[in-house]
Amino acid sequence: MSNNTEFKIRRIETRDFEQVKKALTFLTEVEPLDQARFNKVLEYWTTYKLLEDDTPVYNCFVIVPIESDGKETGEVAAVGTIFIEQKLIHGGALTGHIEDIAVNAQFQGKKLGKKLIDHLSQYGLSNGCYKVILDCAEKNIGFYEKCSFNQAGIEMQIRI
Ligand code: ACO
Repeated sequence: MSNNTEFKIRRIETRDFEQVKKALTFLTEVEPLDQARFNKVLEYWTTYKLLEDDTPVYNCFVIVPIESDGKETGEVAAVGTIFIEQKLIHGGALTGHIEDIAVNAQFQGKKLGKKLIDHLSQYGLSNGCYKVILDCAEKNIGFYEKCSFNQAGIEMQIRI
């Protein structure tokens, strides 16, 4: 990969299975996940739309490197999702939840994480979210601050 490799952002597709799985291993444990399950989840994600328009509730995007002729190289450099929650409060407001951000280590440090977060936040805000939120590890606070996020609240969980 040269220093002037270009990238584009698009929605995840079933052909991204192997490469998305690879990218997600830089976030957490992924197995067991086979192509059939992957396809099923992607289909499920297309099922749900917001009440007022055709915007999907689940929006998973990938960043892919492209050749000089615009063709994709077949790799997935980064993956991430914004889930848009329909609320009752604030007159039925929307909140965007950014989830499962992973940049393949081979592509880290090239501002692709920031490019992805900017895209997801903008997607949420431009589709009516009054806020976009996420949970992260302490070691990533600096990264999200660089993406214009401020610390707010404390994450709590019950975990098995
Ligand atoms: N702490 C502080 N600053 C950071 C960090 C960090 N952990 N990571 C990157 N930065 C800075 C960079 O130095 C850069 O600063 P600059 O603009 O001043 O040069 C800026 O943030 C943008 O960095 P990117 O190059 O866009 O970062 P990258 O593409 O490497 O992505 C990420 C960062 C997403 C954390 C990546 O390293 C990764 O995938 N890590 C493993 C998985 C992970 O932790 N994912 C996030 C989970 S949280 C969630 O899913 C909601």
